[in-house]
Amino acid sequence: MDTPLLTAPDIRQRIWQELQRALQDRHHEWRTPVLATVNADGLPQARTVVLRHADARQATLQFFTDKRSPKFAELEAAPSVALVFWSKRLSWQLRIQATATLQRSGPDVDAVWTRISQSPAAGDYLSAKAPGDVWEEDASDTPSDNTQHFLGIVTLRVQNLDWLELARTGHRRAVFTADQWEWRVP
Ligand SMILES: Cc1cc2nc3c(=O)[nH]c(=O)nc-3n(C[C@H](O)[C@H](O)[C@H](O)COP(=O)(O)O)c2cc1C
Repeated sequence: MDTPLLTAPDIRQRIWQELQRALQDRHHEWRTPVLATVNADGLPQARTVVLRHADARQATLQFFTDKRSPKFAELEAAPSVALVFWSKRLSWQLRIQATATLQRSGPDVDAVWTRISQSPAAGDYLSAKAPGDVWEEDASDTPSDNTQHFLGIVTLRVQNLDWLELARTGHRRAVFTADQWEWRVP
């Protein structure tokens, strides 16, 4: 989809609109970005996550994870991340650099858990074994009650947005920081 009339400030606004839409729309391609981190050996790691919150004014994004997962420990040691989103519908790629802060417990985690504890998604945070543990066929994986959960919240403070639009009429790319932007060669 070409967006010839959009100026760069419009584009910044549209990016955040699409991120907001992705929270509501299960089929939005930006709902499931790829999150890249650096592991303890200094090697790259990347995986899909579900976008759970987007706040344009604060320039923050959130996702949920099992706090025993390798990525949680990686983020604690090395909080700089990259996120990549692609939407075929929009013909837009979005690359984000951000810094992560982690919540293991507290009122925000409690509020999210209250909201999701009765939903099927709750099972993602209740397994007896940690993500990445070796799977054993006969081991019981589900605790008998759901009071012991492992939900953690990761908040990403966005440092820059690198937007790329593919269009027959010519690709366009713009990079946005908190108070500046510039066109870049695609
Ligand atoms: C569509 C999709 C959505 C996913 N969403 C999440 C998510 O929101 N949080 C999460 O921790 N893992 C999510 N996962 C699983 C991760 O991609 C990953 O396999 C898992 O978290 C272990 O990652 P780690 O070993 O880097 O910690 C998702 C996977 C897929 C395929």
